[in-house]
Amino acid sequence: EIMKDVFDLKKVEDQLKQSLDLSEVFIIPGDSDKDPWVKKEMGRTTVQLIKRFLQGEERKIVAITGGKTIAAVAEMMTPDKQMKETLFLPARGGLGEQVENQANTICATIATKAMGHYRLLHVPDQISKESYKSLMEEPKIKEILDQIRSANLVVHGIGEARTMAERRSSTDEVLHKLSEKHAVAEAFGYYFNQVGDIIHKVTTIGLQLEDMTNSKCVVAVAGGSSKAQAILAYMKQKKSNILVTDEGAAKSLLKIH
Ligand code: BG6
Repeated sequence: EIMKDVFDLKKVEDQLKQSLDLSEVFIIPGDSDKDPWVKKEMGRTTVQLIKRFLQGEERKIVAITGGKTIAAVAEMMTPDKQMKETLFLPARGGLGEQVENQANTICATIATKAMGHYRLLHVPDQISKESYKSLMEEPKIKEILDQIRSANLVVHGIGEARTMAERRSSTDEVLHKLSEKHAVAEAFGYYFNQVGDIIHKVTTIGLQLEDMTNSKCVVAVAGGSSKAQAILAYMKQKKSNILVTDEGAAKSLLKIH
């Protein structure tokens, strides 16, 4: 019985790898919508992936996003030889999240648990075009932005569009735009429709979608059947190489795909 389950997950991992055009897919048994420990297991697998990746790399710069899923990655982080030399950075500046969901907060936690290093990116969430421009010219900001862009590993979450927009207390105008343009997915502060087109973007500095080039390994961590559609839509952008997900999302993905 157990062997059969394990075998089936392996099969689905291969199927999703093919259909989403990814280099690796990891499926954790269970559904994180229902069982919180499933999210922790996704976190544990992601920690192993981070360590495996850094082992072979001279440059050890990891950019991470915020969110509860990446918070679970931080929770499961443990120190290791290669972690001592690792620099953790937030992928992007403020996106309107509560403190516990912010990339900065999670970045500090993950680095501390890894016994590595971190730097933070202090950018206000709501910022005028003028302030944004002058901020970009600050030498200290420039320096950290260069470091963020040079990250060779990116670890990020994927969210369901409406959930994310509401969580970030977006204006009615933004909420309206998202529903009018049928947003289904969110990642890095970008909102996508079902075919993966960008329909809205939160203005902030840090990694832009076009910075996610082949020279980076990009790991998406997202699970729960409620995120299946979001995962599918975001993956149309083909910016991530690896997906860590759960059985709940994987099963729904196969159904809607
Ligand atoms: C955000 C990330 O912080 O977390 C997003 O920037 C992602 O890319 C979101 O959509 C997911 O949040 P959660 O709490 O569902 O893991």
